Amino acid sequence: MSLAARISERFPGLLHASLAVLLVLSFSNAHAQGFDEALYTKGEKLFKGNCGACHKPDKNLTGPALAGSRARWEGQGDIYAWIKNSSAYLKTGNAYANKLFADWKGSVMTAQAVSDEEIDAILYYADNFPGPLQVKDDQTPPAPTPVQGTDAWPWLIVLGLLFLVVTISLSGVKRSLDSAVRDAEGRKPAQDRSILQHIGNWAWNNKIAASFIGLFFVVWLLLQGWNALWTIGIYGGDEVAQNYKPEQPILFNHTLHAGKVEAGNLAINCQYCHSSAEKSKHAGIPSTNICMNCHQAVGEGRTPEGTAEIAKIYRAVGWDPEKLAYTGEEEPIRWVKVHNLPDHAYFNHAQHVAVGKIECQECHGPIDEKMDVAEQWAPLTMGWCIDCHGQREVQMAGNGYYDETMARLHNNEIGHRELKSYLEDGKITVKELGGWECAKCHY
Ligand code: HEC
Ligand code: HEC
Ligand code: HEC
Ligand code: HEC
Ligand code: HEC
Ligand code: HEC
Repeated sequence: MSLAARISERFPGLLHASLAVLLVLSFSNAHAQGFDEALYTKGEKLFKGNCGACHKPDKNLTGPALAGSRARWEGQGDIYAWIKNSSAYLKTGNAYANKLFADWKGSVMTAQAVSDEEIDAILYYADNFPGPLQVKDDQTPPAPTPVQGTDAWPWLIVLGLLFLVVTISLSGVKRSLDSAVRDAEGRKPAQDRSILQHIGNWAWNNKIAASFIGLFFVVWLLLQGWNALWTIGIYGGDEVAQNYKPEQPILFNHTLHAGKVEAGNLAINCQYCHSSAEKSKHAGIPSTNICMNCHQAVGEGRTPEGTAEIAKIYRAVGWDPEKLAYTGEEEPIRWVKVHNLPDHAYFNHAQHVAVGKIECQECHGPIDEKMDVAEQWAPLTMGWCIDCHGQREVQMAGNGYYDETMARLHNNEIGHRELKSYLEDGKITVKELGGWECAKCHY
């Protein structure tokens, strides 16, 4: 009898089980091989840019979940024509499209400027969501690099404590041996010394070792301090207020107001509302009058809830939408502050937006793409500020703010070494300009 046959006689079912395992393995392998990561990633990007305002791949939102939609349209109609211009397609009288439209009454799919190829990618993404390889979300802010090697400290402390315990018990043993010997020799017992005295004595006799241990301890304290600075959060300690997203008195939707037109949003410029970001320290929160520029005419939201939220603007400014007149009874809105740097840290918007030419989104995240409610996207720790200052190049050329500096540099009026190096390689980081100096950020 062969070995396999003998085994299968002893353990009936084992062969079947292993066959099944093999089968599953080869199947999942085949599945992974058939997955086109490039197409998926392309689809994901396109989806987020164009469709994400109204669709989710796997859940209903303003429109139906897109997963499986290609299959639903199979033999029913032209899904490409629908996506490119749904209202035109409805007019062809297509039964499936018209039923879809009736099922989702109240919301309309806006025309989408996408090609057939792009639609293929989007639908591929939706059908394969969330993807076997867990495609990385490139929107997460980079975590500040932790100071390396600190993980080993707890173990060193434990080892140190063990060492201390052993030393103390050994010295106890030594002491009793000592006094036993003194007893036997008929001498007076030695006076009892405290552990501290012992340590002091030992340090006196082993000065080099003692100073090494002392130095070690000081370096350790410094490292701990530096590490704490790096991760210090708004509420102190390690806790960081990242993703803080307080409830606001009016459900103001950034994505809807500032998001792209192609995604069905209004694409209002950030600075239409946060107008002081270019000129002053603060970006500022708009007054309700700015809302009324549009909302005097726009009383209806996309949903009944949205309409109720707009009514809150009217109450705040004392506007009677029936009589189309101000009543004079105001109830100012108290927006809850999302970002809160401590008082001792100085941050200036104009320096970063107007001079540094940094996009709002780099510090505030995709607020116009997927933040119905404004949240603190970046950690706002000192490490975060410093990380960027250490890498980011300052745009000197063609930057009005630096014209004078540049002129003086060319005329050899400034001798700053880093600035000189700029003339050689054309590069200079914020750090080299002084962006790591404590006093630049601390009062
Ligand atoms: C402004 C909101 C909005 C945007 C943006 C949007 N859609 Fe839609 N979509 C809808 C709504 C609402 C429906 C349901 C039909 C209707 O009421 O028009 C729908 C239906 C669909 C359907 C049919 C689903 C089914 O179950 O048969 C597909 C496919 C689709 N959308 C694809 C897309 C793609 C792809 C994009 C991006 C390129 C996109 N949509 C962008 C709102 C939107
Ligand atoms: C139509 C007006 C409007 C537009 C356009 C707008 N915002 Fe706002 N923004 C507000 C209002 C109102 C608040 C306060 C309520 C809130 O936090 O949601 C706010 C709050 C914020 C906050 C949080 C402030 C805090 O309390 O710390 C940030 C950050 C922000 N906006 C960034 C942006 C960016 C970036 C853009 C452009 C992509 C933008 N906003 C476009 C009106 C607007
Ligand atoms: C370099 C990073 C950075 C950039 C770029 C940036 N912000 Fe800010 N923003 C911050 C920080 C940090 C705070 C918190 C400031 C504080 O609490 O004093 C903040 C706070 C805010 C606030 C709250 C109100 C205020 O002024 O403190 C708003 C609104 C805001 N930013 C909007 C914007 C807009 C709009 C842009 C683009 C025009 C922008 N920010 C660009 C980092 C940035
Ligand atoms: C430039 C014009 C404009 C400005 C400024 C503006 N809005 Fe709007 N807002 C609109 C339009 C248009 C709609 C309706 C969108 C739709 O139905 O597609 C809307 C919708 C809304 C909604 C309903 C959202 C929903 O889900 O239905 C709320 C709430 C709202 N706005 C609040 C505000 C607040 C608060 C401000 C001031 C900070 C503001 N808006 C400033 C144009 C504007
Ligand atoms: C995304 C990158 C980035 C982040 C994050 C950032 N900064 Fe800056 N910062 C810059 C750039 C770029 C400049 C140089 C602008 C210029 O002068 O051209 C700058 C300049 C400054 C200056 C002026 C420095 C000087 O030499 O005059 C101060 C102060 C400052 N930043 C504070 C902060 C603080 C505080 C934070 C964190 C709350 C922060 N920055 C976060 C990019 C950043
Ligand atoms: C680019 C800006 C920047 C520079 C340069 C900078 N800091 Fe900070 N620092 C910050 C910010 C922002 C915070 C607040 C972080 C928080 O609380 O979330 C902070 C927090 C601190 C705190 C913690 C205070 C508390 O909240 O308990 C100390 C201490 C500190 N910094 C010391 C220094 C020292 C020392 C230097 C120079 C070596 C320095 N900082 C350089 C931006 C800076």
